[in-house]
Amino acid sequence: MSDDTSQRAIFATKIGAVAATVGSAVGLGNIWRFPYETGVHGGGAFIACYIVFVLLLGVPLLCAEFILGRGTRSNILGAFRDSSSGGRRWVGAGYMVILSSIMILWFYSVVAGWTLGYCYDSVTGSIAGMDSSEISDHFMEMTTGWRNVVLTVVFLLANAAVLLGGVTKGIERASNLLMPLLFVLLMVLCINSLSLDGLKEGMTFLFHPDFSKIDASVLLGAMGQAFFSLSIGMGCMTVYASYFNKESRLGRTALTTAVLDTLVAILAGVIIFPAVFTYGFSPEKGPALVFEVLPAVFGCMPGGMIWSAIFFLLLIVASITSTVSMSEISISYFEEELKMSRRNATILSSVLAMAGAVVCALSFGPLSDFTVCGMSMFDLLDYVTSNICLPVAGLIISVYVGWVVPARFTREQLTDGGSYPFPLYGVLMFVLRWVCPVAIMLIFLNSIGLL
Ligand code: PFF
Repeated sequence: MSDDTSQRAIFATKIGAVAATVGSAVGLGNIWRFPYETGVHGGGAFIACYIVFVLLLGVPLLCAEFILGRGTRSNILGAFRDSSSGGRRWVGAGYMVILSSIMILWFYSVVAGWTLGYCYDSVTGSIAGMDSSEISDHFMEMTTGWRNVVLTVVFLLANAAVLLGGVTKGIERASNLLMPLLFVLLMVLCINSLSLDGLKEGMTFLFHPDFSKIDASVLLGAMGQAFFSLSIGMGCMTVYASYFNKESRLGRTALTTAVLDTLVAILAGVIIFPAVFTYGFSPEKGPALVFEVLPAVFGCMPGGMIWSAIFFLLLIVASITSTVSMSEISISYFEEELKMSRRNATILSSVLAMAGAVVCALSFGPLSDFTVCGMSMFDLLDYVTSNICLPVAGLIISVYVGWVVPARFTREQLTDGGSYPFPLYGVLMFVLRWVCPVAIMLIFLNSIGLL
């Protein structure tokens, strides 16, 4: 991406565009959230629903966001406003999306802070040789104390530094190099999992779906996870597509992003669940799952702390490529709509992020008594953003691109003005007009008990 602030940035290559979108999609959502959601929702049946949602809703919505972004080359507000003559009436959705991106950043940076803490603890060796219960205590100590706040702030400062330093030279190059490394490391850990005693049980849990377990909460959870993991319904992919060059093929980029993202999530599952059963953890542990299971895995590997340090380091990188994309939503809005400089926009976005993230970090300790509907601030934000904000925004985007944006505009983007065919145009439009809105509405109404 060019960092020239006088001009709108553009990813230099098609590969750069794919790397950035995959960098945004692959993150804690795949390695932390996917395994714990799978565990909480009963394993294989959840994964089956998840894959259906990625293909049925995820890929078409990615295409819709790409169309809005590249077609308008604008921030999320401009993307609604400039893509159709009636677009001005839809900018409210843009504000909602900006707000949800900030809220996701709040709890996401807390988890990224834990990753930072584990990386540090691996380097110092302080988590070496711990048994399962010591690891659980360690996690508890880290999340309830002030260390949690410090780690969150340090992570957000690193995020701000990358955003200030420029996207091309910092994050784009780093992710081009480190994302493949993360893949390699995941493969190594997968192979290690194959030797664990709990392999059979873990694989059965993951890949033998018990369809009788599917209920409204599994469906809503799987849909929310698909949206979260693909970074859709957030305007993030819209903003990134506004930096795509003319040659980027939107349909292909959407499919590649969805396939790679799902692959990483499944690999994470294959790493975690055999270990869960080997070391006697409960799959239903929730957000702590990965942070308790992985140290147990590393603890039993030769040179485990070195692997652990590398793994958590790469996870930090994967998190930063995602938080950068989340921050970019508000930063591009501040820059283009409120006419701020890149520097001031980044500072404002980081201050907003820090204020909420610190409260979220404290929700494990000093603020743990402050709950809404029985949920801590952290759980509430995770639940509300993934299960309400993202699907609602997804619904709005599908209806808007399906029904309001002129066909000429969508076709132009999907075929690069007719330079290549997009044979699935009719199918895509049908899905955006009917399947996405109906599916999202049904699942949503069902899960809140109105159906
Ligand atoms: N997709 C990211 C992950 O799986 O970690 C999270 C995310 C990034 C969500 C950017 C939303 C977003 F706009």
